[in-house]
Amino acid sequence: MKVVPKSPARRPNPAKLVLPGALGELKKPVTRTWISDLAACSEGLMDKFVIRGGNRLVGSIRISGSKNAALPAMAAAILTDEPVVLENIPDVRDIQTERNLLVSMGAEVELGYGRASHRTTISCRDLVNPEAAYEVVKTMRASTLVLGPLVARMGRARVSQPGGCAIGARPIDLHIKGLERLGATIKQEHGYIEASADRLRGGHIIFDKITVTGTEDLMMAASLAEGETVMENCAREPEVVDLAALLIKMGANIEGAGTSTMRIQGVEELHGARHRIIPDRIETGTFVIAAVLTGGDLTLTNCDPNHLGALIQKLEECGVSITASADSMRITNGHQLTAADVDTEEFPGFPTDMQAQYMTLATQAQGTSIITENIFENRFMHAQELARMGANIKVEGRRAVVRGKTSLSSAAVQCSDLRASASLVLAALVADGETIIDRVYHIDRGYERIEEKLKSVGAQIRRIGEFLPRRAAVPSVVA
Ligand code: EPZ
Repeated sequence: MKVVPKSPARRPNPAKLVLPGALGELKKPVTRTWISDLAACSEGLMDKFVIRGGNRLVGSIRISGSKNAALPAMAAAILTDEPVVLENIPDVRDIQTERNLLVSMGAEVELGYGRASHRTTISCRDLVNPEAAYEVVKTMRASTLVLGPLVARMGRARVSQPGGCAIGARPIDLHIKGLERLGATIKQEHGYIEASADRLRGGHIIFDKITVTGTEDLMMAASLAEGETVMENCAREPEVVDLAALLIKMGANIEGAGTSTMRIQGVEELHGARHRIIPDRIETGTFVIAAVLTGGDLTLTNCDPNHLGALIQKLEECGVSITASADSMRITNGHQLTAADVDTEEFPGFPTDMQAQYMTLATQAQGTSIITENIFENRFMHAQELARMGANIKVEGRRAVVRGKTSLSSAAVQCSDLRASASLVLAALVADGETIIDRVYHIDRGYERIEEKLKSVGAQIRRIGEFLPRRAAVPSVVA
């Protein structure tokens, strides 16, 4: 579909552009509120979950929209000066952070309430500050997804380097290399990436490694570049395909999303669009394992089983029966689980974001499961916490050997990252006694009201808060 360009991409007037370092002079109140918003988000920072194990989960849970599809979609709004309406946005902390980031640049972001609570309207007509500051990037690495769109639309971007992460080094060198291949000039100093280009031009990018946000970032940048871009060794995740679907609705010319080679014909400008975000496959997978572990009978609605092929296959190998339709899954499990090895891979392989939850399942399976983490070099933080609950797990580098079945007993445990937190909640659902899980702000980043959803199908779970004073500093959370 070739878009007839209306007029050269309407870039904001450079005279109005606020260059880095001038932030303090910004008179616009927006920024001030953004900082207090961020501090406000810290409320609930010391919340804990108290979970009494042993209840079967019975009933139905509605799955929320995908965090990892919503974040790049919100960044894509930067590419046009027309409003972008996104539906099925999950109400999780990372979406708040992304909203604050866009507002700090001068965007208008309306998060819906009530019936429209999962809709957001973003207008990037008057972007004035092409910057993602360290304060934001240190709390959410995905904020680096604004790099490509900012350079493509505004010709300039200043984005903080993300820094270390609980689950691995996670550099963004492939994003930078890709932008350079599209003609951007990149300077890295004082912990920031400064990228600029009069107009990006099409190029040939072969990713050294498959990277999800790298593919998304450069797909967005190439959409407004001059000429054709060919990207090889791309990520094929459903979130990448969903972003391509949005960009095509905005007027982009993209072929091959979901395969390892994409062709993008750059266009002069993109326009507004309305798009429904895909369901969250990792939230779905987490609840599937909750049903299996508790011997429950659970139906998950508003989900997409096609996005979970590898997990479903692995669980069937463990003896689980799952009935799926186009947008729902029913899990009934009464049998003893059998151990099965798992290797995390890029999509369509077994997702690394389900590795921690699968480890909890492996503690309840008869036999030895070997879990190999191939994507991130340090993603077994949950193993020690599960061991505190009585699990038999031996970690050797990127391999974890789990011997089961072991009975888990309640203990005080703490979250280290988003998916590790989910594995502890799952363990507490089957542990004997009352488990206290600390630092659940990690789980709030990517699961919408998980305790309410679990309670609605019979779990004994409650949130207790030790509210800190409103202006508490936000610790650097990663992953
Ligand atoms: C995305 O992270 C997801 N985050 C992650 O989900 C997910 O674990 C990951 O993909 C893998 O599936 C979002 O989509 C917001 P990568 P991303 O770039 O894109 C290395 C969750 O729990 N690499 O595909 O950051 C990297 O270190 C989160 O929701 C480079 O070396 O992951 C890793 O080893 C956690 N250089 C591997 O590639 C780069 O420039 C894959 O990382 C980029 C990546």
